[in-house]
Amino acid sequence: MSELFVCNAAELVEGGRKLIANGADQIGVLRAGGALHAFLNVCPHQGGPVCEGLVVHKVEEIIDADKTYRGMRFNADVLHIVCPWHGWEFNIATGRCAGDGKLALKRYPVIERDGGIYVAI
Ligand code: FES
Repeated sequence: MSELFVCNAAELVEGGRKLIANGADQIGVLRAGGALHAFLNVCPHQGGPVCEGLVVHKVEEIIDADKTYRGMRFNADVLHIVCPWHGWEFNIATGRCAGDGKLALKRYPVIERDGGIYVAI
């Protein structure tokens, strides 16, 4: 396993992202929810640049114990990245597709060390 340098750690603040080349591929590195995440910039739906999408909190329905629907809310604990081509959403902590848990983004380990950020490939 080797490492790709992404950037100096101070350059990637909360909510920020970098796209780096890995041969012909691109890897998106994001700092979101207080953690670093790295994914191949290819959506499993039709190959869109998923790492360039919005990062939003998961939207969930509010349903009472008696099954009465009470609307929707953002889940403050779960972040999704939304593919810009057709809106498929992926849990940023796991890479799993929100609509089909059998699908997932390709993830890479991210290392923050000595003031730098690296992706293990
Ligand atoms: S290519 Fe990503 S949602 Fe279609």
